[in-house]
Amino acid sequence: MADAPRWWRRRGLRARLALTSASALTIALVALAWLFGYTVRRSAIATLDASARHSADDVVTLIDANRLPDPILTTGGATTIQVLDRTGRIRAATPGSDRLVPLLDDRDLASARHDRRARFLDGRAYGLPDLLRVVALPARDGQTVVAATSYEQVRDNLATVVRTLVIGTPVLLILLGAAGWLIIGGALRPITELRRGAEEITGTARSRRLPVPEAHDEVHDLAVTLNDMLGRLERAEARQRALVSDTAHELRSPVASIRAQLEVALDHPDRQHWPATAAGVLADTLRLARLADDLLVLARLDERGARPAVREPVDLDALVRSASDRHPAPRVPIELRGGDPVTVAGDATGLTRMLDNLIDNATRHAATGVRVGLEHAGAWAEVSVTDDGPGIPPADRERVFARFTRLDEGRSRDEGGAGLGLAIVRETARAHGGDAYLEDAVPGLRAVVRLPVR
Ligand SMILES: Nc1ncnc2c1ncn2[C@@H]1O[C@H](COP(=O)(O)OP(=O)(O)OP(=O)(O)O)[C@@H](O)[C@H]1O
Ligand SMILES: [Mg+2]
Repeated sequence: MADAPRWWRRRGLRARLALTSASALTIALVALAWLFGYTVRRSAIATLDASARHSADDVVTLIDANRLPDPILTTGGATTIQVLDRTGRIRAATPGSDRLVPLLDDRDLASARHDRRARFLDGRAYGLPDLLRVVALPARDGQTVVAATSYEQVRDNLATVVRTLVIGTPVLLILLGAAGWLIIGGALRPITELRRGAEEITGTARSRRLPVPEAHDEVHDLAVTLNDMLGRLERAEARQRALVSDTAHELRSPVASIRAQLEVALDHPDRQHWPATAAGVLADTLRLARLADDLLVLARLDERGARPAVREPVDLDALVRSASDRHPAPRVPIELRGGDPVTVAGDATGLTRMLDNLIDNATRHAATGVRVGLEHAGAWAEVSVTDDGPGIPPADRERVFARFTRLDEGRSRDEGGAGLGLAIVRETARAHGGDAYLEDAVPGLRAVVRLPVR
């Protein structure tokens, strides 16, 4: 028995549903058949008893009128009647019935007279049918009228009813079970189709969706949800593909540049100014290294989702004030405007990289100078980096936060990076529970990072 649940678990959904409904149906039908047979038997016996009582009543009336004939003639003749006097002797009886032995002995007679209920009697001893229903009614002067009716007809009828039920119930069960099997199969078909759809999807690169059933039911909702998920996965995959191809694209130019410089140098080794070649190759190598670093930072941000690497107290004011140490000899002067100490919870390395990316952009684009500010308003700290350069048109201010987006593609290669800086800024800010955006500084651009204060 311990194995039954396991056996049960291994059945298919359709088989389990069909078996469950068939079991419930079996119990219900058997109970119904039993109840039907029981009711039919009860009502047949009640009818029989009523007719015996009726015949006995008629005889009681005759006795009361002092007109009792002997033999007693009843209509139909199916009922055997005896009239017993006070001493238990038979005074009168229907023709063909025993005139010496009463149908009920003294004890049965007394209780039958008393409770007036019908009872079964074996009639064989009296030359009557084997099973009888007997009633006894009291009459004048302590006499008793005993009436017996044969139970045979009722028994035959009941046997027919039972036969019909015994054959009919299983046939009905089989029919209903088969119908259930088909209906359950029909109800599960959309799921089968979902599965088939999913099977076809695997491995194909085309846009992939599962078949959505027409009925607005649970399977429909499931298909819609799964399709949404497929859509999200598809977009994520597309992003991933784009990232790989953008990365490959970005890698190509420094690698090609290194290769060209080395090839030229090796073609004419004696006429070559090797320190200059090495410096050129080093610059390209640094670009590659930066690209690799930035990609790694973004990959880590992706991995962690919306959480910083660590949550340690970071003093933003100190971070702003130390910015000039990290930017020695900038192209334009950097003015630092710190304020009161403002502490946020997060990753100091990440936040430093974020601020430096903004300062890099600003010093590269500024005309005369860069201002770095820190403000504390309520639950938020705002770090801003403002320059007086050309700015970014409003239409592009969101777009530049996307990875590998560069607006000044035409500029000299050495100036710009791969276009990952602002993506790192925004994703770092969001991982710390804040956000980053760009504003007009008339002239120039103001980059703002809002972070929740600890
Ligand atoms: N202060 C600014 N003024 C004008 N344009 C800017 C400024 N900051 C960024 N941009 C524009 O936004 C683009 C995206 O900036 P982002 O920092 O993401 O990339 P990048 O600086 O080109 O490369 P990276 O930061 O990876 O070295 C830049 O290419 C530039 O066109
Ligand atoms: Mg940048």
